Amino acid sequence: MVKVNLGGCSSFVKDADYKVYVGKALEALDVLESGSGAGNDFLGWKHLPSETPESLIEECEAVRDSWKAKGIDLVVVIGIGGSYLGARCAIEALSHNFAKQLSGKKDAPEVVFAGNNLSEEYLAELMDLVQERNVATVVISKSGTTTEPAVAFRIIKEYIEKTYSDASERIVAITDARKGALKTLSTQEGYKAFVVPDNVGGRYSVLTPVGLLPIALAGFDIRKMLAGAKEMEEACSVRSEENPAVKYAAMRNLLYSQMDKKIEILVAYNPKLQYLGEWWKQLFGESEGKDLKGIFPASVNFTTDLHSMGQFIQEGERIMFETVVGVEKSNRSVTIGSDPQNLDQLNYLAGQSVEHCNAMAQLGTKLAHIDGGVPQLEISIENLSEFNLGGIFQFFEYACGISAYVLGINPFNQPGVEAYKKNMFALLEKPGYEEQTKAIKARL
Ligand code: PA5
Repeated sequence: MVKVNLGGCSSFVKDADYKVYVGKALEALDVLESGSGAGNDFLGWKHLPSETPESLIEECEAVRDSWKAKGIDLVVVIGIGGSYLGARCAIEALSHNFAKQLSGKKDAPEVVFAGNNLSEEYLAELMDLVQERNVATVVISKSGTTTEPAVAFRIIKEYIEKTYSDASERIVAITDARKGALKTLSTQEGYKAFVVPDNVGGRYSVLTPVGLLPIALAGFDIRKMLAGAKEMEEACSVRSEENPAVKYAAMRNLLYSQMDKKIEILVAYNPKLQYLGEWWKQLFGESEGKDLKGIFPASVNFTTDLHSMGQFIQEGERIMFETVVGVEKSNRSVTIGSDPQNLDQLNYLAGQSVEHCNAMAQLGTKLAHIDGGVPQLEISIENLSEFNLGGIFQFFEYACGISAYVLGINPFNQPGVEAYKKNMFALLEKPGYEEQTKAIKARL
């Protein structure tokens, strides 16, 4: 269960104002639940946890098992934005920090990501790795036309076709049910294909095959993930002041609208959650940043970034609030020992767990940042597990939909993303862009 604690905001806001924003958030929830708001043809994510059929889970597991039987030890997941961040977030959160360096037999293939940038060096170095391993790929693009994954896929596909006689069995496509270049290609080449439902946008798609397949391939339990998400599907759809998504959406909108807090920093105290920050930034940034409005989403990893961004957060311009993702229990334990010489003067911590130090760092930072004028919201989960990650995905998606409706914004489109693409296509002289090419070259 994802819990929300707003105690770290109480000295900044009046209770009466919070209640007003809870009212606005409940109205926004009504709009979301009745499907009467902007972008209402993209609400399929709401019921993915309760409506994902067993057959889809089995299909994901069948790919996992057949690739295992082929001895595949490297899966390249190709995609960008919503077509990769959810899977990367879950896999990084659930994997051993040093899985790559540990010796011994691995139960699951290593999953690496491509198609999320246009760096030539990245792709060249990926091919160095691919050549040493037994490889398969999952190419993910809802539109089926995004340049970054298309470039990476062309290169990996060529390699797989050149290297393996069973090439088409080593490629899975996840794309639209009917349209797009990737759909055409996968039909023609006979690849196993999964569908991104029409009514689920990229950044809300982690609980479709877009996230579920790579997460299953990496060896994690997607049934547990969907079960955790289902718990939050229920909790976040209840019309109640205690609904965690309503509480979070109400407070962040109050801080933004009445206290001029324009930046929200997602804070984690576990390096495995770095990509939760990346996934969350896309979800909120692409959903809310429109019509010259929106809270700018940033993320930090503490205690690491307390030694860098901590200075700004404590004493820089007072434009931000923090949302801390707390993990109540560590899955592993390490106790600090006693040293008879105590030259490092750490004996006062002897017998304590490292997690206790982390918890005290978290509490000390909370008090310091509140004293420094930074309100703090806390979202907590019990531990890092498939169940709780599923819950946090569903919770943030609900909270994002509600928040954007409170702001009067359509959370499900991304018109601004097209601007760079048009310029890039004109500069790359893509057929059909002749006029734009002339115009843009005249500006240079
Ligand atoms: O949220 C979104 O819709 C976007 O971020 C997309 O996920 C991203 O642009 C990738 O698009 P596609 O899956 O069509 O390649």
